[in-house]
Amino acid sequence: MGNADLVFQSFGRSCNNPAFFEDFYDNFMSKSDQIRAMFKQTNMEAQRGLLRGGIMWLVMHARGMPDNKIRALGESHSRKHMNIHPSHYNDWVDALMATLHKHDPEFNDHMESVWRETIRPSIDLIKSMYDQ
Ligand code: HEM
Repeated sequence: MGNADLVFQSFGRSCNNPAFFEDFYDNFMSKSDQIRAMFKQTNMEAQRGLLRGGIMWLVMHARGMPDNKIRALGESHSRKHMNIHPSHYNDWVDALMATLHKHDPEFNDHMESVWRETIRPSIDLIKSMYDQ
């Protein structure tokens, strides 16, 4: 099985449990006061649903889907829209790895490197659009 398929299956084992998305944001927001502040006005129930779609776009992009959804995220997170500085994405990916570790029973160090490698090009594309 290719890496993109491994990641797709790993997310499939994790995403049916609503606690996955709660745990992700608990973990992500615990990274810094700055990150927590960004979600102060956010309806977190809606946001958890949006995150499910967002991770799915990363996975589908890795499986060869066109990059229009990823570019839309790059645009919405860019300086002139939500102003999410590229330096925050390491914390985002680390929070995702910790949450997968908790929820995917088949997660291990190898799967962590597979995940990181597989979603990196999409994350790099989003970050590269910050200043556009
Ligand atoms: C909103 C996904 C990284 C902060 C959103 C939305 C999605 C999403 C789908 C809904 C609006 C839209 O479609 O643009 C993602 C994905 C990420 C990522 C897949 C990683 C690749 C980050 C990072 C931060 C962040 C690193 C930094 C703190 C926010 C904020 C909102 C948002 C503040 C708006 C919340 C609101 O409406 O109040 N994100 N995001 N995101 N994201 Fe991200």
